[in-house]
Amino acid sequence: MLSSSKTDPNHRERWGYSFQWTDKHLPQEEIAALRAHYDELGSAALEKLQAIIGRKNIEINGGANCPFKPELYAILKEHHKEDEVLEQFWAELHSDPVWVDWEQIERAQKFFGRYALANSTAFALQGFIRENSASPGIAEVFARTGGFAIKNLLSRVIETFTWVIQVTTSLESIQPGGEGHISTIRVRLLHASVRQRILKLASTRPEYFPIEKYGAPVNDLDSMHAIVLFCCMPMWDSFPKMGIYPSKQEITDFIALFRYISYVVGSPNEYFETPEKAKAVMETMFLYELEPNKTSKILAHNFIAWLEDQPPPYLSRNFMEAGCRWMNGHDMCDALGLGRPSLYYYAVFAGHNVIVSTMARAQKLIPRLDRFIIQFSRKTLYNAVTDNAHLAGGAGPFDFKFVPSHDEKFGKEVDLLEGRGRKKLPRPVEHVFFGAFLIAVLVGVMLTFGGVKILMGLYGNDALRS
Ligand code: HEM
Repeated sequence: MLSSSKTDPNHRERWGYSFQWTDKHLPQEEIAALRAHYDELGSAALEKLQAIIGRKNIEINGGANCPFKPELYAILKEHHKEDEVLEQFWAELHSDPVWVDWEQIERAQKFFGRYALANSTAFALQGFIRENSASPGIAEVFARTGGFAIKNLLSRVIETFTWVIQVTTSLESIQPGGEGHISTIRVRLLHASVRQRILKLASTRPEYFPIEKYGAPVNDLDSMHAIVLFCCMPMWDSFPKMGIYPSKQEITDFIALFRYISYVVGSPNEYFETPEKAKAVMETMFLYELEPNKTSKILAHNFIAWLEDQPPPYLSRNFMEAGCRWMNGHDMCDALGLGRPSLYYYAVFAGHNVIVSTMARAQKLIPRLDRFIIQFSRKTLYNAVTDNAHLAGGAGPFDFKFVPSHDEKFGKEVDLLEGRGRKKLPRPVEHVFFGAFLIAVLVGVMLTFGGVKILMGLYGNDALRS
């Protein structure tokens, strides 16, 4: 018997997403425990590396300010045998957990390239705008580290994309010693640096970052939320909203890939043991961890303002707002302070969905096309991020660029973008999407008429006679 949502005590609904609460979902005590915990081994390893750098600095420079910034991973690689903590850290990173299945990981890596456009849309409109902006603890860390300040967004997006592409480009890349594996270790050390810096500032001025409210920066709960953003949202939220329905195999494989990434990046991995458990984590986050506040509005505003009119796609603010509303619902977008564009822009976003979902269907039907798209996206995206690596700035890959200080918190920005704007010029990408929408409507109308005609042919005469 189907239970009514109003009377069913296990029915939950938040931000337009409804689900059944089960024993796999996380109770409040477990959420609090995860918030109170973080990657202690990563933090301890960072301190040891800093001590080695300090010693080297004294040897070479007599302790004066070092003119070059040592790269943490290179120091770890060279010195891990000299220290117990570093040795444990290195051994953990380079041993395969019993549950890892490399064939499955290799299959999973194809998911990103297979649906490259849909993944990028989901990542921008849900990942950056909803999950990062509307989760108060995560948003606060980003506001403190300037990651959503307009002048820093290009480097953030390039580095995040570079990392995603590296971990999905080939099996060797994600395996110990590979490019993606090394980048993930760098990211883990980067998170430890972010945590260390913010905790230090908060120790002299607690109101700088309310640890009792948000937990330590990049705590276990926040990290699991970030993993959910990468691997669960596409499966059960963003892709279905674009008309793409990943297969059971794709879901199981992709979650397994991110379980392994959780392991390397120092985030709890057991919650991603099965798709059911992972889905329950995602739904728990929906229920308790999305609470947009003033900081969220600033982050969402800055992200859209930065993306607006960027070459090469030259997307309009209206189009992105329509996309956000399609993907995240009106309640969330109102809470984030986004505008309400006209119906035309929803039609344009619907056209985008027609394209990505038609491509997904075609790829399922034609394996050769699927292989071609995966290879093409991998190659194009890899070359794009490699060619533009210099735009990420900083002293090295995944280094700490926006070191927070007591008074620095980034606000809503407009001035930086003044003078940009192709608002009066045509927007070719949006026109293509609108064209796809019109074709889909035309095909829909023709199919409906065709169907009605066939039905009339079959039953029309009988109906007229009776
Ligand atoms: C566990 C899953 C996570 C993954 C896979 C991940 C991935 C990354 C990547 C690839 C970067 C480098 C690109 C960039 O600068 O944006 C990065 C940087 C960063 N991440 Fe994460 N992240 C995760 C969780 C988190 C969480 C939960 C927070 C905050 C609460 C966070 C805060 C940051 C910050 C502040 C930086 C930038 C530091 C700087 O360059 O100054 N990350 N992360």
